[in-house]
Amino acid sequence: MKKMISIGLIGFGTVGTGVVKLLQENGDLIAGRLGAEIRLQRIADIDIRKSRGIPVDDALLTTDAADILNDPGIDIVVELMGGYEPARTFILAAMTQGKHVVTANKALLATHGDELFRSAMRHGVNIGFEASVGGTVPVIKTLKESLIANRIQSISAIVNGTSNFILSKMTDEGGSFETVLKEAQALGFAESDPAYDVEGIDAAHKLAILLSLSYGKKVHLGDLYREGITRIGEQDIAFARELGYRIKLLAIAIRRDREIEARLHPTMIPFDHLLANVNGNFNAFHIIGDAADSVFLYGQGSGMMPTASAVVSDIVDIARDVRKGIAGRVPPRVLDEEAIEEIRLMPFDQIRTNYYFRFSAVDRPGVLSRISGILGANDISIATVIQKGRMQGRAVPIVMTTYKARERDVRRALEDIDRLDIVMGKTVLIRIEDDKL
Ligand code: HSE
Repeated sequence: MKKMISIGLIGFGTVGTGVVKLLQENGDLIAGRLGAEIRLQRIADIDIRKSRGIPVDDALLTTDAADILNDPGIDIVVELMGGYEPARTFILAAMTQGKHVVTANKALLATHGDELFRSAMRHGVNIGFEASVGGTVPVIKTLKESLIANRIQSISAIVNGTSNFILSKMTDEGGSFETVLKEAQALGFAESDPAYDVEGIDAAHKLAILLSLSYGKKVHLGDLYREGITRIGEQDIAFARELGYRIKLLAIAIRRDREIEARLHPTMIPFDHLLANVNGNFNAFHIIGDAADSVFLYGQGSGMMPTASAVVSDIVDIARDVRKGIAGRVPPRVLDEEAIEEIRLMPFDQIRTNYYFRFSAVDRPGVLSRISGILGANDISIATVIQKGRMQGRAVPIVMTTYKARERDVRRALEDIDRLDIVMGKTVLIRIEDDKL
């Protein structure tokens, strides 16, 4: 059996540096567990002059990824450069050369995962991507292996640390969205384009990866309903608290009869729900399997060393197979690749859930009955109403929560309500997940 597994690293940024550091610091421990040494043979990056604060032999560094892709001595290519191209081309080239691949590239997997997974199968190599969702949290392995005997009934997850940090801060310490976003950016776990975090793009990528694993299917990103956190105001956070909820950006997947309901949006959840207590930049996953029942995973969804931990776990997993001369023991997705199908997502306007509305309505007799009349006409039943203060003739917030209603009916009702002369501005809508409502 091989006593040394060689890896080449493409991308020497934050996570790449973490991987090198982890291999330096825990290399002996890992070698003891694996029964072989993981040797870092080459590191490629466009900038090889910058100091990363760790000792690295200059001879390992190259600006040309081909030095890794064409090196017959390298068993595993670790792609940590991010972005779509040339990362996709490098991964495909590595596979063509019979090399295994480890990547943390969530955007690439969400859009080109099917192509990469099929290429891995065709070339008889492994692709590890534990770090792409949930950072250090072992959610990929859980879905692919630990819960293999289950039909996944649902997943509710906090998968974007930046949004969770912003919402937690706004909830616990107050402050406007803009101020708290600046703080998150300074802490270094936000994407370089903050829209990826706050508009839910990053989280939608992760939801797409989870869906392909849980249901063994391909997902078209454009079919996923996505809404970020930019419209959540301090007022809504305060009203949520009063109603016994906290607001979280949740990725939700639910198995319905022959369809999958999948959506990503800010969601009010009861404050005693485990997910409501996941704060700061932490990630968490509440998975329900038909046999396993509830499984809860929690941990750091980003950061140099936590993400490196997930990357190195993939390297070791693959190294074990390399030592035995096998590959593809666990397919990239849950199903055998032949069984992969297009996912059938439930049309978003058909979902049924609970809703919070914040109307901005003129304080005048009869206003409530006009609003509730439209809701009733659209089959929407009101659960609670809050109106604070009196500002006769001026706009005041009126908050309502509803029993289960259909999205299509809600949209139709809000269109009519927002056209009323007594309603000033667009009504705020936040979905609620509350079994008791
Ligand atoms: N920007 C991402 C987050 C980094 O905030 O979760 C980890 O994918």
